[in-house]
Amino acid sequence: MKPSSIQKRPLVLLLTLLSVVLYNACGKDDPEGPACTLPGVSFSYNTNIKPIIDHYCLSCHSGSGPGPHDYRTYEGIKALLDDGKVLERVVIEKTMPQGGGMSQAARDSINCWIQSGYPK
Ligand code: HEC
Repeated sequence: MKPSSIQKRPLVLLLTLLSVVLYNACGKDDPEGPACTLPGVSFSYNTNIKPIIDHYCLSCHSGSGPGPHDYRTYEGIKALLDDGKVLERVVIEKTMPQGGGMSQAARDSINCWIQSGYPK
């Protein structure tokens, strides 16, 4: 091994360690998203959430792209709810819908629905 690469090792190790620490810190900060801001309201897929998804998501997520997955049905979006990706992208990061345009009220509804176990 060349001397120069030996010298770089502690730095690489430090950066790796730092990114692991930061990754865990961010992940544990808010793993379940913000608290529901509409605690008295009950949400279900069929009554209040499907219209929101239809309106904001299907232009890209209906099976034919450009977004992955098919959100036309509860079954189609359930896996993304189970692994936290809808919460992450719509409520926490707000990177979906791509291009923005979703009202905070709609994001709050999605959040409260997810916080209550996303009933159908
Ligand atoms: C203008 C197109 C567009 C709209 C509208 C849109 N998305 Fe997306 N979405 C994408 C694209 C493209 C990707 C893949 C690239 C990426 O992950 O950013 C994606 C990825 C995702 C992912 C990650 C999927 C995975 O397998 O990791 C989720 C979750 C998601 N979108 C949810 C939504 C929800 C919920 C809505 C509606 C509120 C929505 N998106 C609206 C284009 C869109």
